[in-house]
Amino acid sequence: MKICMIGTGYVGLVSGVCFSDLGNDVICVDKDQNKINNLKQGIIPIYEPGLEELVLKNYKNKRLNFSTDLNNSIKKSDIVFICVGTPTKKNGTGADLGQIYSVAKEISSSINRFKIIITKSTVPVTTGDEIEKIISKKINKKKFSVVSNPEFLREGEAIRDFIYPDRIVIGANDKKSSRILRNLYSPLISKGAKFISTKRRAAELIKYAANAFLATKITFINEIANLCEKTDIDVEEISIGIGLDKRIGSRFLRAGPAYGGSCFPKDTKAIVTTADKFKINLSVIKSVINSNSSRSKLLLNKVKVILNNKIRNKKICFLGVTFKANTDDMRDSSSLEMIPFLSKKGAKIKYYDPTGFKKEFNKLKNVNFKNSIKDAVKEADLVILHTEWNDFKSINFKKMYPSKNLKIYDMRNIYSPSKIKSQGFKYFGIGR
Ligand SMILES: NC(=O)c1ccc[n+]([C@@H]2O[C@H](COP(=O)([O-])OP(=O)(O)OC[C@H]3O[C@@H](n4cnc5c(N)ncnc54)[C@H](O)[C@@H]3O)[C@@H](O)[C@H]2O)c1
Repeated sequence: MKICMIGTGYVGLVSGVCFSDLGNDVICVDKDQNKINNLKQGIIPIYEPGLEELVLKNYKNKRLNFSTDLNNSIKKSDIVFICVGTPTKKNGTGADLGQIYSVAKEISSSINRFKIIITKSTVPVTTGDEIEKIISKKINKKKFSVVSNPEFLREGEAIRDFIYPDRIVIGANDKKSSRILRNLYSPLISKGAKFISTKRRAAELIKYAANAFLATKITFINEIANLCEKTDIDVEEISIGIGLDKRIGSRFLRAGPAYGGSCFPKDTKAIVTTADKFKINLSVIKSVINSNSSRSKLLLNKVKVILNNKIRNKKICFLGVTFKANTDDMRDSSSLEMIPFLSKKGAKIKYYDPTGFKKEFNKLKNVNFKNSIKDAVKEADLVILHTEWNDFKSINFKKMYPSKNLKIYDMRNIYSPSKIKSQGFKYFGIGR
């Protein structure tokens, strides 16, 4: 099939490359000329394991192309995926659909034969109706169909998630589009992915409900962890004890910092705002948002306690600053709240992240990137394990020349408290 991906970010690039690897002709379009030029030279704009090899292979065999020419790329394609951003509105809580609607207008000027227009971006329920209205101002409804196909891939596992998804959701109000898309995804369905065909609005809501539920699970175990800390219980035992109940499931029950990333924070706010518009009060999700937004403050209070209320001039090392491992994505990472707070209080911060220097901390006083774990940990008074990269799991802190009284705040519970204590260092975890 001939496919056009509009928006070549995490979702557009990964799914475009994977579709081409399945044998389709794919053009990935972006308005960012620099990104497209780089991709044509094999320079990948994001860190995602396995992505570079797939891009190079499919670009070389000419099934994958990159362009900034939206009009022509749409004309050449039968299927058009919209993968642009849907961030939170500036000065608001709902999804900013500006990029989606501007793309819809551009599509309406480029339809030369029947096209299926698919939103892969996460969009509030009824957005498909709006896209249909915009395009039908110029084009007869018989010449296009608007479908919702939400994407569930996780950064860091994106390629695997795309190729082996738990389910493929197609929300189409017509049978023809649903049939064509089932065909497009048939290589994945034959490998075991469940295909779910719904009405368009249902597919839009499935994505938000899924993300809100996962955010709820994380927030739930984070609050249980708070109780564990007061009652001398290890939250890891609670996670295992409840997670083995099949009705609950063990995933997303790891206590840690506030959830972050490009999806959960914005999507929980957006679903609540959409529900408010329909006069429905999603009170559970509202409390999840509140609880999560106070979490960094709570962990920072613990940092104060660990440092006996003396933050000024303390040498603090952050291991990992992205919102989770195996991605370079800094969007809404809790380190963006913690590091500026500690820098303002006079701490001297060194950080190491496997994906390198972060411009987000550029202007902060006494915040420096180090090229190795060793350089970051050296002479630290406190190490904050912020992101659960495998690189950090087997560190021998004794070999890192830390201060004699080194304290370790393991925000992901990746270390054995007794092992750290046996090395002579003070250990603090989450809910343990
Ligand atoms: N990142 C994830 O893990 C993930 C997972 C599932 C769903 N989603 C959803 O997918 C959507 C995209 O997310 P992302 O993380 O890939 O975003 P992103 O910011 O990484 O990429 C969006 C891209 O769209 C481009 N763009 C914007 N307007 C354009 C236009 N008019 N023409 C061409 N290109 C344009 C931007 O330049 C950018 O490169 C969002 O709705 C998000 O919620 C993201």
